[in-house]
Amino acid sequence: MLNGLAGKIVAGGKTFMSAMPPQKQHSDEEIAALATYVMGTLNPPPADWKEYTADEIATLRTEKIDHQGLLALRAKLLE
Ligand code: HEM
Repeated sequence: MLNGLAGKIVAGGKTFMSAMPPQKQHSDEEIAALATYVMGTLNPPPADWKEYTADEIATLRTEKIDHQGLLALRAKLLE
């Protein structure tokens, strides 16, 4: 959400080729709530999953990640 995402991704067995603009205009609290909502409505969420906090989002905001890094992170999350 902070960085957006662009290019080819495969989700639910389907291929998507589009772009999501970064959503960093939202506050840390809002992004934590959105991420918690998205993860909490996945069926089923990962066993060790915990709600996101505004502090975690504030930390993530300070970390720079490029497009290749984002795609690598996504692949790791889907393992
Ligand atoms: C704050 C609100 C938003 C949330 C919580 C959200 C959430 C997400 C998430 C979690 C993904 C990753 C899906 C995946 O990796 O499988 C995603 C991808 C995407 N989002 Fe959003 N999104 C938001 C706003 C938007 C907006 C405003 C747009 C369009 C104007 C958008 C368009 C897209 C597109 C096109 C993708 C796929 C990108 C690609 O194909 O590489 N999203 N979104």
